[in-house]
Amino acid sequence: MAYEFKTDLTAADVTPAAAFFNRRAFMAGLAGIGGASALGLSADAAADKLKPNTWEEITTYNNFYEFGTGKSDPASYAGGFNPAPWSIEIGGLVDNPGTFTLDQITEGMTIEERIYRFRCVEAWSMVVPWNGFMLSELLNRAGVQGRAKYVAFETVVRPEEMPGQKRTTLEWPYREGLRLDEAMHPLTLMATGIYGKPLPNQNGAPIRLVVPWKYGFKSIKSIVKITLTDREPYATWNKISSREYGFFSNVNPEVNHPRWSQASERLIGGGLFAKRQPTLKFNGYEEDVAQLYEGMDLNKFF
Ligand code: MTE
Repeated sequence: MAYEFKTDLTAADVTPAAAFFNRRAFMAGLAGIGGASALGLSADAAADKLKPNTWEEITTYNNFYEFGTGKSDPASYAGGFNPAPWSIEIGGLVDNPGTFTLDQITEGMTIEERIYRFRCVEAWSMVVPWNGFMLSELLNRAGVQGRAKYVAFETVVRPEEMPGQKRTTLEWPYREGLRLDEAMHPLTLMATGIYGKPLPNQNGAPIRLVVPWKYGFKSIKSIVKITLTDREPYATWNKISSREYGFFSNVNPEVNHPRWSQASERLIGGGLFAKRQPTLKFNGYEEDVAQLYEGMDLNKFF
């Protein structure tokens, strides 16, 4: 079925390449706000170095079903999408609801560079140098009310500019959600750029979510609506198949997708003969985020 993710795994990949150097979690570019330790993030995470994928790789191998289901479709068909002007409606359980232009939203925000691992549920990965600000800064401005437990996000609906939305591949708008503590975590980013340039259309212009310890489909693109709520929000892939795509969708090599292993991943740009690399729990950010899930059975709440 067209709406099912297809993995590029073969039978030979089921056993991960065991010899891969088990890299620590990685985060960089936190200078300017006092570094990783000021945020209470692991010092190790900031010390390590990952090599970012090239601009070409990051902007030509995409998932953005609003422009088609093929990996090259977003780069091919997103040229007619116009991300300016842009505004986001912020509402629900907040003290300061309203519709805000992108300029109003980014005004006064600290735009940082965050070099994050990015792991798709389809078992490929990249390393992306994002530019953006912490979602927590925006939520703090919105004034989250005590009853709020979740944050819901929606992508823009513009079938005239997004040819994929003329088909019923997914139910539009694409929607996602986070638990409030996940949304407030300092690793959770609202990205506005890559490599210091504005986000290309195919990567979710002009503003998208990036949650580096979760499978990529949680990182919803081209956001026009943010709603604080007391209920678990509708999440597109979870609604299509909750058996395959959990609401949490934390990267976890120990919990396989029903149709493929999540134990290893193919790093995009590694070359035809590159070995797969082992997938790290919480995508390498375990030290920073594991406490969010303390006491939870990750096999059940996957
Ligand atoms: N957001 C919207 N609106 N539509 C999508 O199809 N795809 C998701 C996520 N966000 C998607 C989306 C998936 S499956 C992945 S892996 C990432 O975007 C891909 O991000 P990238 O193309 O920047 O690598």
